[in-house]
Formats: sequence, C-alpha cells, structure tokens
Amino acid sequence: MVFEADNFLMNMQILVDTARKLVADHKGLLAMDESNPTCNKRFAKLNIPQTVEARRAYRELILTAPGLGDSISGAILFDETIRQQKKDGTPFLKVLADTGIIPGIKVDTGAKDLAAHPGEKITEGLDGLRDRLKEYCQMGARFAKWRAVIAIGEGIPTRSCIEANAHALARYAALCQESGLVPIVEPEVLMEGGHTLERCRAVTEEVLRNVFIQLNCQCVLLEGMILKPNMVLPGLTCPPHQEVKEVDIGEQQYQVRLTDRQPEEEQDIDEVANITVKSLWRTVPAAVPGIAFLSGGQSAELASARLNVMNLRFKSQLPWALSFSFARAIQQPALEIWCGKETNVLAAQQALLHRAKCNRAARRGEYTAVMERA
Ligand code: 13P
Repeated sequence: MVFEADNFLMNMQILVDTARKLVADHKGLLAMDESNPTCNKRFAKLNIPQTVEARRAYRELILTAPGLGDSISGAILFDETIRQQKKDGTPFLKVLADTGIIPGIKVDTGAKDLAAHPGEKITEGLDGLRDRLKEYCQMGARFAKWRAVIAIGEGIPTRSCIEANAHALARYAALCQESGLVPIVEPEVLMEGGHTLERCRAVTEEVLRNVFIQLNCQCVLLEGMILKPNMVLPGLTCPPHQEVKEVDIGEQQYQVRLTDRQPEEEQDIDEVANITVKSLWRTVPAAVPGIAFLSGGQSAELASARLNVMNLRFKSQLPWALSFSFARAIQQPALEIWCGKETNVLAAQQALLHRAKCNRAARRGEYTAVMERA
C-alpha cells in the first residue's frame, strides 16, 4: 500500500481508522521492539543465551500466547522480528493477522549523543526512512514507532535538545503518514535522576508543547497518530515525599508529620494520576485519538494501578483514550519465568496474558489489587 496524491482523503481516512482501532475496545499496545542490544542485555541478566534463536523463541512465546488479541490491539516489532517465523515456519506477521493484532514497527535507529550537549541524546534514523517505511508497509505493518529520550539533570534538558528531538519526531511522523503508517510519537522523559515530581511535570509539559508545535509545522494529521508519553513521576532517586506541616509552639517552629496520610503507595498513585492527566490536558490537542503510556521502568503493578486511577477518575472528561504501550510492564514477569527454558513457556505465557488483562482492566478503571492475587 503506497499512498498516491489523488487518494489523499481516502488515505487520511485509513490512518484515522487505524489509529482509532489501536485504542478501541479498551485494548492497548504491546511493545516488543527492543533492539538486539537491549534484548540481549535483558537476556544476559537472566543467563539466557544472547542469540538470534533465543530472541526468536522468546518472540514466538509472546506472539503465540493464546488469547493475546483479547487485550492487545497492536504489537510493535523490531526489524529482526518482523522478518522471523515460528519454529514451524509460519511468519510472525501471519500469526498476528490470525489473532487480529495490528503489526507495528520501530523505525528509529536509536538515541545517540547530541553533539555539544553533554548528557543529552538525539534520536537518529531519518536518513533513508522513506524507503524503509515503504518496505515495512508492503510487508504488512500498519503503524510505526520512534522514541526520543529526554534526560533531567543539572542544566538539562536544554532547549536545543528538546527542539532537535521534537523536530525529528515530527519529520518521522509526517513520513509515516505519507507511507500509510500511523506514527506512534514517543517523547520519553526519563525516570533516572533525583528530580521531583514537579520538575518532571514542568519538563514533560515543555517537551509535549514543543512536540505539538513541530507536528503542526510538519502538517501531521493529529487524528491519525498516537502519542506515547511517560507518566509524570518523581525521579528514581528522589527522596520519598514527606507530608509535613510547620507549626509554631512558643518561640520554636517544629515540623510535624501529618497523621492522617494515606499509605505511601496509594497516595503516590493518586498524585501521579492527577498530575499526569493535568499535564496532558494542558498540552495534548483533543484531535489526538489516543495516548498510550510507556512504562519506563515502573513496576508492572504500579503501571497498571496508575493507569487505572487515571481512567477511573477522569475517563468521562477526557477527549482522548488513555491506554498503554508497555514493554517491561507487560513482558518482564513472563521473561523472568521463561528464563530461556522450553518447559517454562506455558507458565510465561500465562504471566504475559495476566499483565495484558490487568492493563485492559485498567483502561476501564476496573483493575484492583485482587486481580494480582487471583
Ligand atoms: P517500557 O514500557 O519498558 O518503558 O518500553 C516502552 C517502549 O516502547 C520504549 O520505547
């Protein structure tokens, strides 16, 4: 499927329909597009051989999990995976077609050091992208993904880093739509660092504002794309939030810890859900059909719980669907069970399906901790 100029309107409608399908029925995306080095790193931690065959076997485990399509609308593949087959020779793309899961493809070539900006990255992959997209589209892919990474630290992110990454995301998105692929636009503000929730909020909003300015400049059809942002979270090494109140007793001022606090985790879930939705509300145009979060290193359960509270509280007031496009928060428990052993495949598939179901429930605001004990 290659787009012709005279079919412009029909082609736009195909993009809009695909984008809507990706967030329909409370299903979400499964990101299984780890590059070979990233996949190998995760395998190495579990003593799984870092070979093409091990990666193929793992991806077969995921794609053949029975009923995966009940919770997953689209799977993001890596270049190696989109060309692979099951052990019996069935192409992975056929497996996806049979389960009704829309195939997607990661098309960036990774985040590299941004020249003259220590500690910052720029995502590469625009050279030759038009031809690569054409090939993926002919193979059967219907959407694509490009991830930009923004680090928070002393003096960073700089304006140059934010603008360069937003510009690249927008050029990628316009090329995707020209080829008939829905772009997943992923500007990830990283969790690494000691920054506060408030700083993450400010940076996330600045990044998203820039991304939408650039998307508009490049004439990207907002109805035919999906945004894949981070949730707004405090940095991994940020000291725990202490709710304290200053009180004066005589001449002295004391800090008193409030006694009626919610348990730490519950409070954190509410706060993250509220601030994340507020930031998206301020920055993401209503024309965008869906927002599918990355998990970014959160635990699988927290990612589900936070998504759940966002939908439970705000779903009826939001113009876009709030969905998921998790990699680690869906795959990690399954990978740890599989550990490269054929005998563990069924148990690993059950763990994968469980996470997919939990996240589908979170889209409806119906996820509960009880689901984790079932
Ligand atoms: P995580 O959910 O593990 O952050 O991965 C999402 C992703 O696709 C990263 O590009």
